Amino acid sequence: MSKHLLLGQTLSFSGNPLTEHWGDVTDFDSAGGVLIDGDRIAETGNGAAMQAKYPDAAITDYGDALISAGFVDAHMHYPQTGIIASWGKQLIDWLNTYTFPEEARFSDPAYADQIANRTLDLALDHGTTTLTSFCTIHPTSVDAFFGAAATRNMAVVAGKTCMDRNAPDDLRDTAQGAYDDSKRLLNAWHGKGRAQYAITPRFSPTSTPDQLNALGALWAEYPDCLMQTHLSEQLPEIAWVKDLFPDARDYLDTYEAFGLLGARGLYGHAIHLEDREVARLREVGAAVIHCPTSNTFIGSGLFDLMRLAKAGLQVGLATDTGGGSSFSMLRTMAAAYEIGQLRGTALHPAQLMWLATEGSARSLHMNGQIGHLGAGAMADITILDLAATPAIAQRSQQAQDIWDALFPTIMMGDDRSIADVWIAGQRYQRGESQ
Ligand code: GUN
Ligand code: ZN
Repeated sequence: MSKHLLLGQTLSFSGNPLTEHWGDVTDFDSAGGVLIDGDRIAETGNGAAMQAKYPDAAITDYGDALISAGFVDAHMHYPQTGIIASWGKQLIDWLNTYTFPEEARFSDPAYADQIANRTLDLALDHGTTTLTSFCTIHPTSVDAFFGAAATRNMAVVAGKTCMDRNAPDDLRDTAQGAYDDSKRLLNAWHGKGRAQYAITPRFSPTSTPDQLNALGALWAEYPDCLMQTHLSEQLPEIAWVKDLFPDARDYLDTYEAFGLLGARGLYGHAIHLEDREVARLREVGAAVIHCPTSNTFIGSGLFDLMRLAKAGLQVGLATDTGGGSSFSMLRTMAAAYEIGQLRGTALHPAQLMWLATEGSARSLHMNGQIGHLGAGAMADITILDLAATPAIAQRSQQAQDIWDALFPTIMMGDDRSIADVWIAGQRYQRGESQ
């Protein structure tokens, strides 16, 4: 297999900078090297030393650009790509007005194919190498997404979104139908190439207890699958859940009671959590996924990252497209920073970069495989131009250190900041797959 040596500034992590001091768990080299052998990273280190050690390796020199692990988006909805940035609604009205009519269009497999391909190309253009996506209730929407990801050799997580109440007629399945479809799709896709299946009840308001129970039973049969859903995003939603499940202790209990709480569970938003919910999520080792651009765009509230990280919860970062207002994990980091400021904590650039790579990968139980710039990981790599626009360049020129140089790109960057992307050891060519 051919070896390829990437030279540039390199950033990697040896621990969690939310719970340890960022300086103790961050490895930065202003003249680093990353050796790709086949589809994996074989070695990282000093660029000149690696050049001497591997004289036959092909070389790509990125100069002052920053070589990072590819970004990992831990929660998004590919079927909502077409309605991103729709005006003026909060969660329940937004679902009914914009989201459900758009998701109904995915009964057409050709439309699902088109949007799946478009979404993955947009993600890669923005430096995101792994997406964790909800699909629609249509099984073909799942085939479209996994198929498009396989063409690009991308690691993705996805599942059929299940709803058997409080949704339009053409977007409802049944408890048994959701179980049967999910089981068939899971058997078709889970572990195939780089695909991982997530059992996907949309959220407890759109599933009957029977459906939640059926999906909990399915998860018990396939415990190595992930499970993704939404939790405590907006106050009117939480009040609705209380009405629908009068016996539940809290929102999380509407999942727990039906076997839908576990270590491989991914709970999107998790903004307005009660103490019992935080304690249970930590006890079982589940992950909460922070979706900051969505939380401000839909008007949901201020996620309390430090409360949850200090409590020992696993936290990932996500765009939540199209409730989220950007495909960019840079913009998503910026929004996390802004929400942190409103919560009284200025997140360090190391913490933001960790969330967008290692934190999300850990949430997906794929740590060491993706989101990691180190030996043994898959070579999913994103290279950031730290002077991509005049506004960013004039600021980063004055930088005193790498954090000062990187932060303007986090705050003001977008797809123009993505100098290059590698997927499983292959260089991604923009526009190639469109
Ligand atoms: N809650 C249930 N469905 C959705 C969705 O599609 N987006 C967001 N942001 N929240 C949800
Ligand atoms: Zn969502």
